[in-house]
Amino acid sequence: MLEARATFTGTSDYIASEDLQNSVNVSIALGRPLLIKGEPGTGKTMLARSIAEGMGMDLLIWNIKSTTKAKDGLYIYDTVQRLYDSQFGDHDVSDIRHYIRHGKMGEAFLSDKKVVLLIDEIDKADIEFPNDLLWELDVMSFDIPETGETVRANHRPAVIITSNAEKELPDAFLRRCVFHYISFPDAEMMKEIVRVHYPDLEQKLLEEAMKAFYWIRSIDGLQKKPSTSELLDWVQALTIGGISPAKISKELPFLGVLIKKDNDFGAVLQRLHSGQGMQRKSSGPGILRNW
Ligand SMILES: Nc1ncnc2c1ncn2[C@@H]1O[C@H](COP(=O)(O)OP(=O)(O)O)[C@@H](O)[C@H]1O
Ligand SMILES: [Mg+2]
Repeated sequence: MLEARATFTGTSDYIASEDLQNSVNVSIALGRPLLIKGEPGTGKTMLARSIAEGMGMDLLIWNIKSTTKAKDGLYIYDTVQRLYDSQFGDHDVSDIRHYIRHGKMGEAFLSDKKVVLLIDEIDKADIEFPNDLLWELDVMSFDIPETGETVRANHRPAVIITSNAEKELPDAFLRRCVFHYISFPDAEMMKEIVRVHYPDLEQKLLEEAMKAFYWIRSIDGLQKKPSTSELLDWVQALTIGGISPAKISKELPFLGVLIKKDNDFGAVLQRLHSGQGMQRKSSGPGILRNW
């Protein structure tokens, strides 16, 4: 079993800036949820895994969908099973406790050790969802009226909540969280990220792929800019395909790994072939300013 550690300092497979490490440690020290926002692919979900691994705790993941209700995280009362058992089974259906199924928050509270609880993509649920969680997250307990029981956290879990959307979360909810925005990594940090995934990657291939990637991201008006996950897949595709680094910025091989929208595809290729490609602009102003 892993030994629990007091502070988070990142892990060998996850690059965490010092700011991010501080936010994680402050939120755990204060016993407040850490709300992580950032573009898709900026490592929000992976952060929770890294905290669990780095601090020697188990991870419980509550994936939020548009239909998820706050109460689902606490428990559900399985009336269907109880009805079934009462008609066809030989169980004693009078003890309702057998039909209480704990959700991820319930499990985290009942765990006999401190765990990391990831509430992933909270913005997928309806607007009431965050507020409906407030009370239980504050007091770390909830009642089950059907059985008259109260579930209390044995150990306050480290709660990580992620959100992709621009849309604002309710003020009352924000007040109770420590907030951290993960900015899109700059090229230096991105190189480190790629390196932890592909330590043996040829340096020249990495340089060329990064140049092309940030050039694409700098094109105005793209519907969906490629993110870290797409870059990682692309680098792998380039390696497997045996693409020579010199070809990367000229031909953008396997562009479909990076770009997923028809219009963006057209826009990138048009730029590439219109004399506004990377070759010419690399000596001029503007387009490679992010690089
Ligand atoms: N800081 C980082 N260190 C290592 N890998 C990262 C980092 N940020 C993103 N990644 C990688 O990028 C991909 C997307 O990360 P993910 O956590 O799913 O992003 P998000 O949840 O923000 O959409 C994963 O493969 C992850 O390993
Ligand atoms: Mg995610």
